[in-house]
Amino acid sequence: MKFLVINGSNLNFLGIREPDIYGKRTYNDLVEMIKAHAAERAVEVSFMQSNHEGDLVDAIQQAYFDKVDGIIINPGAYTHTSIAIMDAVKAVQIPTVEVHISNVSEREDYRQISYIRQVAVKTIAGMGFDGYNLAMDHLISLLGEKQ
Ligand code: DQA
Repeated sequence: MKFLVINGSNLNFLGIREPDIYGKRTYNDLVEMIKAHAAERAVEVSFMQSNHEGDLVDAIQQAYFDKVDGIIINPGAYTHTSIAIMDAVKAVQIPTVEVHISNVSEREDYRQISYIRQVAVKTIAGMGFDGYNLAMDHLISLLGEKQ
């Protein structure tokens, strides 16, 4: 199984940005944590982070050509604005789990809309970094059932 972890805007600033909300660990720490989890489960994982909406769309489209089995995505603030990212996920038809480090449902009104949620197989929010590993486990069991 081959997974792609996509992180959107400002997630490269983990450890620096609002540590009271997102914690003190860095983006690099996140990548290492997910890599270790993937290794334990003998699945392949690759990573992409961008602050640019179009680059995120390109990465989702590339996943189609790379025959990625599942996508784990935290679009950052694009969650709440991007129809383009939602359309890309819909277009490639790759099972996608939406992840948020913080519990967006208990935050500002403008964070209550998620476009990606409508096309995601699952949303995990408020579980910190662990949310990414839980997303991977969800995809592994979902894809296992389909085989
Ligand atoms: C976030 C929540 C978003 O509302 C915010 O814009 C982010 C991070 C999260 O992981 O909790 O950048 O997606």
